[in-house]
Amino acid sequence: MQTVSDSTAFITGGASGIGLGMARAFAAEGAKLALADLNGDDLRKAQHELGATTDVITFTLDVRDRDAMAAAADRTEQELGPVRVLCNNAGVGSGMGGMNLQAMSYQHWDHTLGINLGGVVNGMQTFVPRMIERGGPGHVVNTSSGSGLAVIGGAQFMYCASKFAVTGLSEAIANLLKPHGIGLTLVSPGFVNTRIAETTRGLDPSETATESMDPEYREKLERFEALFEQLGQDPDVVGAMVLNAIHDDQLYCQPDRLMADPIHARCNALLEAMPAETERDRKMTEMIQNARR
Ligand SMILES: NC(=O)c1ccc[n+]([C@@H]2O[C@H](COP(=O)([O-])OP(=O)(O)OC[C@H]3O[C@@H](n4cnc5c(N)ncnc54)[C@H](O)[C@@H]3O)[C@@H](O)[C@H]2O)c1
Repeated sequence: MQTVSDSTAFITGGASGIGLGMARAFAAEGAKLALADLNGDDLRKAQHELGATTDVITFTLDVRDRDAMAAAADRTEQELGPVRVLCNNAGVGSGMGGMNLQAMSYQHWDHTLGINLGGVVNGMQTFVPRMIERGGPGHVVNTSSGSGLAVIGGAQFMYCASKFAVTGLSEAIANLLKPHGIGLTLVSPGFVNTRIAETTRGLDPSETATESMDPEYREKLERFEALFEQLGQDPDVVGAMVLNAIHDDQLYCQPDRLMADPIHARCNALLEAMPAETERDRKMTEMIQNARR
C-alpha cells in the first residue's frame, strides 16, 4: 500500500509497546484507528493521546474471543469504514511455563498458543474474508519474533512454538493474498523496550506461584527484564519500520540483527543435514515448480 492515509487500521495489542508504536506511526500518516487490547486502562490512555490526531475507537477484548473479534470488526467498519490494515500483534512472552520445564502444563500451552497463535488465526479469520470480498489495496501485519525464525537455547520453547507457527502461516498465506491486492508483512523483532515481561507475568496462569519462585530463577527473570530496558529498541521506531514495510510491500520487517547468527547457523545446519542431490530430487523440484505455474 502506498499510504495508510484515510485507511482504517485494526491493531490488536494496540494499547502498549509495538502495537502502540504502529498506531502512532499510522495516525501520523492519517489512518483511522481501531485498537483492541485486554488492558482497558492503557486503551483509554492511547485513545486520549491518539484521539488528538485521528479518529480512534477502542475494544477491550481478548484476542482468543472470536465473537468479540467479530463484533469489533462490525463496529469498526460501521464507524470508521472498511479495515484495510490489519495488525495481529497482541502477544505474551514465555513467562514461567516457557522458561522452566518443570512448570510445563496444558494450561501454559493453551495460554501461550491460544494468545500468540490463536489470536493471529482469529484476526485472519475475522478480517481477511472481508478484505478479499472488497478487494485491495489492503495489508496484513503479523507480529512474530526473532524466536519465530531461529532458536537460542531452549528456555523459550512454548514461545518459539507459537511464533514459528505465525511465521509459517504468514509466509504461506502471503502468496495467496497477493493476487487479491493484499500485502503481508511479518515483523520479527529481537529485543524491543516494551512491558512484555510485566504483561506476561500479569497474564501468566501460574501467577500465584510468583511469591514462591525459586530465588535463582527470580534473579534470572529480573536480569532478563533489565535487558529489555537497557538494550531494547524503541517501540515507536519499530512502528515506523512497520509503516515503511507496508509502503514498500515488504514481506519481512526485521527491526534488528539479533538473530542473524542463529538464522545462519540454523539454515546451514538444515542444508548440511540433506543428502547429496539425486536425479529424483531434480525431477521432484521441476514437478513442483511446474505445478505452481
Ligand atoms: N518486546 C520484544 O522484545 C518483542 C520481541 C519479539 C516479538 N515481540 C512481540 O511483539 C508483540 C507485542 O508485544 P510488546 O513487546 O509490544 O508487549 P506489550 O506487553 O507492551 O504489548 C502487548 C499488548 O498485547 C496485549 N495483550 C496480551 N494478551 C492479549 C490478549 N489475549 N488479547 C488482547 N490483548 C492482549 C497486552 O495487554 C499489551 O497491551 C507480541 O506479539 C510479542 O510476542 C516482542
